Amino acid sequence: MAEVTTTTEPLTEAAVDAVLVVTLQGQESSVMAAVDSALGGALTEMRERKEFTGKFGQRPQLRTLGRLPAPRLLLLGLGETAQLDSYRLHNAFQFAGEALRAAGVTTLAVHLDGEAVAAALGNGAGPVPVAAVARAAATGLLMGSWRGRMNKQSSDDEAPQPGVTTIRLSGVGSGTEVDAALHDAEVLARACNQVRTWVTTPSNDLTPTRFAEQTAELYAGTGIELEVLDKAELVKLKMGALLGVAQGSEEPPVMICGRWDGGRPDGPRLALVGKGITFDTGGISIKPAGGMEMMKFDMGGAAAVLGALWAIATLKIPANVIAVVPSTENMPGGRAYKPGDVLRSRSGKTIEVLNTDAEGRVVLADGMARAKEMGATHMVDVATLTGAVVVALGHATAGIMGTDADLVATIKEAGSAAGDRFTELPLLPEYDCVLESDVADVKNVGSGRQAGSIAAGMFLREFAGDLPWAHLDIAGTVWNDQGDLRSVPAGPSGTPVRTFVELARRFAQR
Ligand code: BES
Ligand code: MN
Ligand code: ZN
Repeated sequence: MAEVTTTTEPLTEAAVDAVLVVTLQGQESSVMAAVDSALGGALTEMRERKEFTGKFGQRPQLRTLGRLPAPRLLLLGLGETAQLDSYRLHNAFQFAGEALRAAGVTTLAVHLDGEAVAAALGNGAGPVPVAAVARAAATGLLMGSWRGRMNKQSSDDEAPQPGVTTIRLSGVGSGTEVDAALHDAEVLARACNQVRTWVTTPSNDLTPTRFAEQTAELYAGTGIELEVLDKAELVKLKMGALLGVAQGSEEPPVMICGRWDGGRPDGPRLALVGKGITFDTGGISIKPAGGMEMMKFDMGGAAAVLGALWAIATLKIPANVIAVVPSTENMPGGRAYKPGDVLRSRSGKTIEVLNTDAEGRVVLADGMARAKEMGATHMVDVATLTGAVVVALGHATAGIMGTDADLVATIKEAGSAAGDRFTELPLLPEYDCVLESDVADVKNVGSGRQAGSIAAGMFLREFAGDLPWAHLDIAGTVWNDQGDLRSVPAGPSGTPVRTFVELARRFAQR
């Protein structure tokens, strides 16, 4: 476990592996001036040569050669005040954490002007507590310490760099509020990093069965009630949608159901339902070979709901939350489901399968039915659902849709506070007809490719029924594989764990 504390000790006196000085573009601080003079004007020179101006993501490293007790100095730019939001703030610190990990740093002293950053984050929308800045800084740094961008497995068992494990933070005040925020950060970073590990784990290691076992190990001692439905139970419960998708695989499907009763028994119950496809070949409607290896991340939604529930329980948030994960591979095979097949879902609604590659929405249908049976009053599903959302929004914001304006707004606000971004796509009535089927209650795809993410949302809306519902399409944000997108950390993000934890906090107030 990492150790993150506040301190008033000046950076120029800290005996640590590295000191980190953080600045908004164009802003200077007395701490920078002190470091600059200790280093004989090195920072002034770098500013004059435009080597470090505080631009977003700039992170030069300097050797201090005995002029500071710490042998290494990292500078970090947060960019323009007007552009700063919690998402960028987390990412900047994650970049710093990655650089420090690569440099072998484990103990770190950080200074940032908490008030100035909080004011920039507020950006006219009212003040943000300085504690939230401290939390973002610590979370980002600890996420940067995650074992390598790609979670590399290697035959030479060289111990990986542990990354930053001790952080002393100055410039953010002190007291119980900031201490609680730093504790949050440790838990959030652990949850996000667990999700990132799951998302990178190859599908031969993370089968549905292993996923359930690892969840059970993670949840031990947390107070979460865990139930894993195996194939026989899924058959008994008539989970025909999940079983239909699972037909082509030798790996048995599971439904992982977690429950945290932290709130009043008569309070609302938030259901988080995550798509848990441990590998998506497309099935009989098979995907092209190029890039198919990425489809090991098709359980990113599931990982996020399971990781978030762990964090919610670990932080003992007084809200009622359930996590439901329908999990299977999507494979072609002699028993695989085929285009034209009609599946009967747990809810009783029938699904005409016209493309076996639109499998995520199908398994989520049964996940949502389960969530309702577990007493959900509000439904949020999250899925790496459509390639179309990657085309529309890229990797720096996820799609959100829903039937309940209040729930959608609350999630967007929770995201803004917690470091995730969501952009709403409209469920327009003109598109209502695209999933009408002649042979079943609903088709799993429309006949055209237009508005593919919205069509997927409309399918899910059928199964959410009367409950207030929102859908998060994280196909783009789950993993940044776009090499030229330099201001988003590469690899898996752990999204939207932080948002779910913040959402649970907001539900605890209801
Ligand atoms: N898991 C994919 C979505 C996906 C594609 C995520 C690319 C990330 C990157 C999903 O199951 C899928 O295959 N969706 C199809 C839907 C189509 C058949 C209507 C897609 O997006 O092509
Ligand atoms: Mn698919
Ligand atoms: Zn998929």
